[in-house]
Amino acid sequence: MAVQQVIRMGHPLLTKVASPVEQFNTHELDALVQDMFDTMAALNGAGLAAPQIAVSKRVVIFGVEANPRYPEVEAVPMTVLINPQISVLDSSEEVDWEGCLSVPGLRGLVPRNRKIHYSGYDQRGQALERTADGFHARVVQHEVDHIDGILYPQRIRDMRSFGFESELFPELENSDSSPMARE
Ligand code: NI
Repeated sequence: MAVQQVIRMGHPLLTKVASPVEQFNTHELDALVQDMFDTMAALNGAGLAAPQIAVSKRVVIFGVEANPRYPEVEAVPMTVLINPQISVLDSSEEVDWEGCLSVPGLRGLVPRNRKIHYSGYDQRGQALERTADGFHARVVQHEVDHIDGILYPQRIRDMRSFGFESELFPELENSDSSPMARE
């Protein structure tokens, strides 16, 4: 298994609606999920969708470990989510900064639903469901957008709050690692 190249905004696969997984517990699906974890880890991401490594399937992964250096960053369980469904529990809007491994170097302020319920399957076909709010809910909405062919810049309402992270957050330039997640 290996770190794969992440395709960037402009690649037509990132605008396509991905196909559902029909067979679980296969070598092919295991290999895809492993490649996705390897790639996300190598790039320090908080999440990754299969289309970002040019596989147009409804498979996303996400997760953030608690980091004592950044107590304000909320931990999110390491999760494989296949054929996901989201229902909105609280549609009041929360606006926060997002980044994306397919849109490197940029950040934007993106409105998301505050609280969601999501369900889907892991690579073995085991059903999974959770309720999430805040950053956890944001990451899931960002990843599920990927498999529907939507990138976060399309969700930005005020394009003045879209830009290069080194211009928006110059104070982070000299720190060895950024507390901000990339999905
Ligand atoms: Ni992304």
